[in-house]
Amino acid sequence: MMMLDVSNLTAGYGDIPALRGIDLHIGAGQFVAVLGRNGAGKSTTMRCIAGLHMPESGKITLNGTDVTRARADERLRRGLVFVPEGRHLFPHLTVHDNLMVGAYSRRLKGKALRDAIDQATAHLPRVRERLQQLAGSLSGGEQQMVAISRALMAKPTVLLLDEPSLGLAPIVVDTVYELLRQLRDEGMTLVVVEQYVDIVLSLADHAMVIDKGRTVLHDTASAVASSPQLLAAYLAAETEQQRGNQ
Ligand SMILES: Nc1ncnc2c1ncn2[C@@H]1O[C@H](COP(=O)(O)OP(=O)(O)OP(=O)(O)O)[C@@H](O)[C@H]1O
Ligand SMILES: [Mg+2]
Repeated sequence: MMMLDVSNLTAGYGDIPALRGIDLHIGAGQFVAVLGRNGAGKSTTMRCIAGLHMPESGKITLNGTDVTRARADERLRRGLVFVPEGRHLFPHLTVHDNLMVGAYSRRLKGKALRDAIDQATAHLPRVRERLQQLAGSLSGGEQQMVAISRALMAKPTVLLLDEPSLGLAPIVVDTVYELLRQLRDEGMTLVVVEQYVDIVLSLADHAMVIDKGRTVLHDTASAVASSPQLLAAYLAAETEQQRGNQ
């Protein structure tokens, strides 16, 4: 059984179609990269999976359960946790209190809460050292780490991340991906939308490419990484952008 199965998903914004047929089959413990140029429909796909945008048709199953119409909080309780684009921390709350928000679905208190914070920050000494600091006073990279730690507070079995490297310096991007690699090694299922094609393909098992609202390719990450034609056809904008950033 697939951990996360999306079939023939369509969705739009009013009359404007955004997704015209998305298919995504993710086994437990896999790391899947979601690629595609700007406006292809990557974020809309993530939002539909997380329950933040209702699809028009198609089906989403999580560990065998149909969640196509389930509320976002029910998906969260089933272990599906989404880190959206941008970090969406509460800047005027401490790091500790931002993490507490992430544990809301588990209603943790006292020692159980402290243990959960220890676990969620196990790989992140820089977050641990800053629990009493206001989230808004952290660097962009530290804020991204807090956003991921907050997601970990909900004990995900499937973690969706939309452009976790957005706006971060390359060295900080490496730190974020080192964390994702550790989570993968611990058995978490990861679905990562990314513009830094090279780094995400070096970690991913599978890659899917979305173009104009459709899944146009779903293959092993190594097959996608070794096909320059394909990258040129569907990801030209991103590879140019990456060159520009170097
Ligand atoms: N809130 C919205 N209202 C109307 N149209 C939207 C909205 N959000 C996205 N769209 C449109 O839906 C399509 C898919 O957008 P989406 O954000 O899913 O793309 P994306 O692949 O995440 O792009 P990017 O790489 O720029 O983040 C685009 O044509 C976009 O303009
Ligand atoms: Mg997007």
